[in-house]
Amino acid sequence: MYLNHISIQSFRAHALTTYSPEKSINIIYGKNGSGKTNILEAIHYAMLTKSFLTVSDQETLRFNDPFFEIKASFKRQDQFQSSVRVYYSPSEGKHVFVNKTRLETFSEIVGDYPCVSLSPYDISITQGSPQERRRFLDNSLSQTSKAYLKDLLNYKRSLLQRNRLLSEVKHTGKFRPELHSFTEVLATISSRIIHQRLTFCETFRAHLLDSYAQFSNLSELPDLTYECGLSLSKGEDTESIEKKIQARFSTIQTDEIRRGTTLFGPHRDDLEFRINEMSLKKFASQGQHKTFVVCLKIAQHLYMQEMLGDKPIFLLDDVFSELDYERSGELINFLEKGIGGQTFITTTERKRFPNVNQVHITDLLVEG
Ligand SMILES: Nc1ncnc2c1ncn2[C@@H]1O[C@H](COP(=O)(O)OP(=O)(O)O)[C@@H](O)[C@H]1O
Ligand SMILES: [Mg+2]
Repeated sequence: MYLNHISIQSFRAHALTTYSPEKSINIIYGKNGSGKTNILEAIHYAMLTKSFLTVSDQETLRFNDPFFEIKASFKRQDQFQSSVRVYYSPSEGKHVFVNKTRLETFSEIVGDYPCVSLSPYDISITQGSPQERRRFLDNSLSQTSKAYLKDLLNYKRSLLQRNRLLSEVKHTGKFRPELHSFTEVLATISSRIIHQRLTFCETFRAHLLDSYAQFSNLSELPDLTYECGLSLSKGEDTESIEKKIQARFSTIQTDEIRRGTTLFGPHRDDLEFRINEMSLKKFASQGQHKTFVVCLKIAQHLYMQEMLGDKPIFLLDDVFSELDYERSGELINFLEKGIGGQTFITTTERKRFPNVNQVHITDLLVEG
């Protein structure tokens, strides 16, 4: 799958911008603040209905304009595949159309336009709170498994209901017997989510090693472990995980009622990243964090390729500022020969990579 054409109207700094990229690597260069990241955000909107940065639709609407519209067409093996239109106005909200049919829920599109993004803010995946790492896990899994996405959405709904009930029990001081069935439902979905996350980590590990291997002078061995607070053996099945979760819930029930909230489950889990057996979060240098995040995203790309049999579109915002000159060259080499697929890279200056398509941002602006 690749992006064949995109038009971006009244989005961020763009009054009207049109772009017909190449199927392979595309470098967009231009000075700071010229709207390069905005273009990657618009592409992400067309694929996943939102930006890769945590911003509201309202913030991405061009100042003083009444609505924005992003129109994209995608191809697969040079055949027209589909068109996506994203429309937003403050009064009407956001509407997304695939081949002119309006989506009922935005989650419907997840997985149909596989996409991996990397931005300087992603350093929060290794340095930030567990929530950032769960977001990374959920993003990788949701885009490759509709079943996982369904479980995840279901989980969020059930968790909210159970928390509401626990809070009520806490405040009224009256036990509600339906708590048991709420707990059972949550334990069942949790066991599936935990099982899928564990399986993900097993498969992902090899891709992470592969991406590290692309960079010379990196004698570091990366690794990751899923931490869910249960002692599980390798390959443990869903039923057995579910039993352990139920046992945990019965030991913490009094606590949960006292606190009025769910104290155990996938919404509190974490990933531990390591290099050479040492915790990245605790011991790694800034440079090691940056390298890890770049490799993590490359590994996500490889993982998604393996699961989907299709190459995701790779959005690399300012990646060269994360890597030194030698590693930048190695990355381009790997993107061309190993990863493949369509890639967008933003950078401030034109680069000396002979075979790579490079476009100056001002050549894309129809109205500035
Ligand atoms: N909603 C908006 N309306 C108009 N301009 C915006 C909006 N959001 C951001 N901008 C502008 O977009 C520019 C940033 O564009 P960006 O794509 O981040 O630049 P860069 O080329 O450095 O990646 C800034 O000048 C900023 O003021
Ligand atoms: Mg930028």
